[in-house]
Amino acid sequence: MSIASTRTPSSPSAAPRSAGRPISSCRSVAGEQRLRVVRPGASGSHAAYVPAVVGADLVVPTVHGPVGYANLDHAASTPALVAVKAAVDTALETYSSVHRGNGYASTVTSAWYEQAREEVATFVGARQDDTVIFTRNTTDSFTLLARSLPQDTTVVVFETEHHSTLLPWKGTRTVTLPVPASIEQALADLEAALAHADTRHRLVVVAGASNVTGELWPLARITALARRYDARVAVDAAQLAPHRAIDIEATGVDYVAFSGHKVYAPFGAGVLAGRSDWLDTAAPYLRGGGATARVSTAGTTWATGPARHEGGSPNVIGAIALAAACATLAANRPAIEAHEAGLLAELRRGLAVIPGVDTWSIFGQDHDRVGVVAFTIERLDSSLVSAILSAEHGIGVRDGKFCAHLLVDELLEDPWGEVPATAVRISLGLASTPEHVERVLAAVAALAAEGPQRRYVRTEQGWRPEGDTRELTLPRPW
Ligand SMILES: Cc1ncc(COP(=O)(O)O)c(C=O)c1O
Repeated sequence: MSIASTRTPSSPSAAPRSAGRPISSCRSVAGEQRLRVVRPGASGSHAAYVPAVVGADLVVPTVHGPVGYANLDHAASTPALVAVKAAVDTALETYSSVHRGNGYASTVTSAWYEQAREEVATFVGARQDDTVIFTRNTTDSFTLLARSLPQDTTVVVFETEHHSTLLPWKGTRTVTLPVPASIEQALADLEAALAHADTRHRLVVVAGASNVTGELWPLARITALARRYDARVAVDAAQLAPHRAIDIEATGVDYVAFSGHKVYAPFGAGVLAGRSDWLDTAAPYLRGGGATARVSTAGTTWATGPARHEGGSPNVIGAIALAAACATLAANRPAIEAHEAGLLAELRRGLAVIPGVDTWSIFGQDHDRVGVVAFTIERLDSSLVSAILSAEHGIGVRDGKFCAHLLVDELLEDPWGEVPATAVRISLGLASTPEHVERVLAAVAALAAEGPQRRYVRTEQGWRPEGDTRELTLPRPW
């Protein structure tokens, strides 16, 4: 089943959803009462606003005492939206099996699961005949796509990609293009690779936004080029979806993948959306209940549409959470983009004037980007920098090579030899505030000027301040 039969497009500019009643009753024409299922969390309309997240007032221990947590690590995982939590709470009230029962709760839950699919289709601007498959995350989505490629396909991918996008193509003819110095070079390299690919099918795989530098790839230009060589385009939207609108139809891309836990729906669901033909003829991703049309001693007929690859009982709460997040983000894009653009400009302006700090870029500092910045402080180990930001300033960032080893190795090229070629990544989002940006800039400036002011020791958990007495665990939440 493709989404075409059930899709009832809800406008991306529709209202943000807050918790609402799950079920409302209404009178049918004949006057008898029937039940109408309302999406969990659906309610009236508002002007665009910056959606609130759960845990925004989290206080964390530092060596100087408790401070408000500065979440500058959205690219790894985002906190849950308040609207997501509300939708999940509501959905749990009637939570039951999906497509496996005629009981009332099962009927309601099954309807919500399919409505979640429709919401995601709207969120990505899917074509009417595209398929939307719920997966576990972006990695799962690309693994599914890799297993769905027709024989005789060439995959073209850049070294800039996250490992989830770079690695699933094992066993398929793959052309890996070097980190380009400019968009024009990227397009030229891509064109040369496509021109030389002598297989029947071609697939270009590219990130919407880099998880290391935040820089945007020109999807419409890539798709236009790919079309000239009869190639398809799959977009890793893991870092694009939280920040910018995705529009399959407008950009002409063929597939989009992203993760719920990076769009403020941290409940283990992801998405692969796109053309149904390869997916409908591929071997089922999970062989079992739900993926079959008919099983008899004579053989098995597999379902088509999303069911083919969603074997087993689905993660319905994950799908509902993801849909609630998509609805909320889509309804509030202008406010979200303005919030993040302001913070990003401030952050980049501040980092640019700190002596000894370098920010890293593929296409140049003026290239359009989302709120993800990788930087290094001269001669300081990035893992020590992130430990200091946490222990002394209550700031959460990530350090390392960010599952993009080829890109980071190329950008950093072991700049000082004496410390690992890794970087610190600040990633902005809905939990970030101007005060967080000010705090991290002040901390980085002090570190760059004076170096660490305390002794740190390496432990199994990474760098820790010597004599650290902070309690870093909490009682189990169950
Ligand atoms: C650009 C990009 N692609 C793919 C992934 C993989 O996402 P997941 O771990 O949710 O599968 C990430 C995660 O950081 C990412 O940033």
